[in-house]
Amino acid sequence: MDTDVTTTHIVVMGVAGSGKTTIATMLAERLGVEYAEADRFHSEANIAKMSAGIPLTDADRAPWLEAIRDWLSAESDAGRPGVVTCSALKRAYRDVLCDARGRVWFVHLTGSPEVLAERMGYRTGHFMPTSLLPSQLATLEPLADDEDGMTLDVSAKPEEIVDDVLGRLAAS
Ligand SMILES: Nc1ncnc2c1ncn2[C@@H]1O[C@H](COP(=O)(O)OP(=O)(O)OP(=O)(O)O)[C@@H](O)[C@H]1O
Ligand SMILES: [Mg+2]
Repeated sequence: MDTDVTTTHIVVMGVAGSGKTTIATMLAERLGVEYAEADRFHSEANIAKMSAGIPLTDADRAPWLEAIRDWLSAESDAGRPGVVTCSALKRAYRDVLCDARGRVWFVHLTGSPEVLAERMGYRTGHFMPTSLLPSQLATLEPLADDEDGMTLDVSAKPEEIVDDVLGRLAAS
């Protein structure tokens, strides 16, 4: 079944340092659509907690996920798909996003803890400390077979990853 890629929302998901911002920015550019960074939907309190190295609770995440869902619905109402980064570590979180109007398709970026920690280590000016990576990996629930999306390893170059994603989406 060929998909009209101009109507499907893309949620680029995965733990900290997996490349969500890098890949989502490039995807949105290629598709010529709006891109949103999940962090902008976080409350000040959530950002302060993560900056202090304290993992968020489900209660902290609930209004954040709803805000992202509503942004996707608004993009749909405007007749265009949205591309958004969101760690979306648990199935329950993804189910909230799937309540958005329009089709929601997940791109799960995975990598070894060593590669992810190394990439986070190189990064400058980001509030997320590498010390939070283990708790993110412990929380992570990979995409289940009945979830709409794809999983890919981030050891490839960003351009190759973007080509792969667009090819798989078009064929989905
Ligand atoms: N495919 C790749 N190959 C090599 N380096 C990459 C790749 N993707 C991302 N990076 C680099 O890895 C680091 C982490 O990427 P990025 O900031 O996009 O991750 P993120 O998932 O958005 O992290 P966070 O959840 O903390 O915001 C960045 O320095 C980025 O330049
Ligand atoms: Mg990011």
